[in-house]
Amino acid sequence: MATYKIGILGTGVYLPERVLTNKDLEKLVNTNNDWILERTGIAERRIAAPDESTVTMGVAAARQALEVAGLAPQDLSYIILATNTPPHIFPACAIQVQEALGVNGVLAAFDVQAGCTGFNYALYVAERMVAPEGKFALVIGSDTNSRFTDWTDRSTCVLFGDGAGAVVVGPVSQGGIMASFITSSYNMKLSCETEFNAEVSPFLPPTTTTERHFLRMDGPEIFKFAVKAVKESIRRIIEMANIDREELDYLIIHQANNRILEAAARFAKLPWEKLYVNVNRYGNTSSASVPIALHEAVMEGFIKPGDKVLLCSFGAGVTWGAALVEWS
Ligand code: ACO
Repeated sequence: MATYKIGILGTGVYLPERVLTNKDLEKLVNTNNDWILERTGIAERRIAAPDESTVTMGVAAARQALEVAGLAPQDLSYIILATNTPPHIFPACAIQVQEALGVNGVLAAFDVQAGCTGFNYALYVAERMVAPEGKFALVIGSDTNSRFTDWTDRSTCVLFGDGAGAVVVGPVSQGGIMASFITSSYNMKLSCETEFNAEVSPFLPPTTTTERHFLRMDGPEIFKFAVKAVKESIRRIIEMANIDREELDYLIIHQANNRILEAAARFAKLPWEKLYVNVNRYGNTSSASVPIALHEAVMEGFIKPGDKVLLCSFGAGVTWGAALVEWS
């Protein structure tokens, strides 16, 4: 069976309009702008409106990615959506995206859940599904974290935001995905978990079926894990692609915390300018974080054809993974 080189053909994003600033959070919990900025780099995040969801945000990002790729929904063979915050347990968000796009010829549409590494997991699967026959897949990362946040817990509520990012992958004549891996390790001590909790989030729409689960985590332990995971990802991906770390042109790393990004830049021996940073504007958008940052970096001209771009994420599970893409 023929095997095609697979690259990223288009990117798209959706960010809710509502902005929640650190000053706004000062009114909700015992925190302050200086602490949040110094410890995380986050200044504000977006919060989905009651009529927005992981699905509606994913659809909007997907439409833009298709437009940039110059493809129609009917060209797609697969839709894979990464999320930790589906509005329903089933059907899969990806199938609801399929319905919204009005495309019935898709071979398969399904969700993946891998904490904040979800987008890298979905990309890894998509590449392997489309490569044999040179088909096209939509890969979406979308999360509505505000609905799973305990807005009385200052150790987590300052960190997360809502949003979606999407890419279209398919055959390319130049560049493409050079190497990729995903991995996981069972370690709940180091993980984020959702916990049954009767407190109600002010951002929950009345119809949600999951209103009683809120995110909990041991922030400092996850921080240490994250720094190690990013270093290990860089080491492993350059070994797989057989390149030197200086050959990395641009790093798109999961936007969880500015200090994790700084550690990654130091380890990769890359100047800070080679990392895209938007954690200050959106906080941690989980599965959406990498595709949102990728889209913005491309649109702002930081990524050019021929550049070797690292896409790397880490998250609950624990999970981590990376892909190295030569931009087409
Ligand atoms: N405002 C003010 N003070 C706070 C806040 C807050 N929002 N949160 C915690 N504090 C206090 C703590 O109570 C503590 O006070 P104490 O010393 O009197 O006990 C002090 O600040 C220090 O708290 P730490 O938790 O040790 O602070 P740290 O520097 O580790 O920063 C943070 C915490 C930002 C959570 C950091 O550990 C981090 O970013 N961790 C990684 C989180 C992450 O990436 N999560 C996503 C994982 S991916 C996924 O799949 C969801």
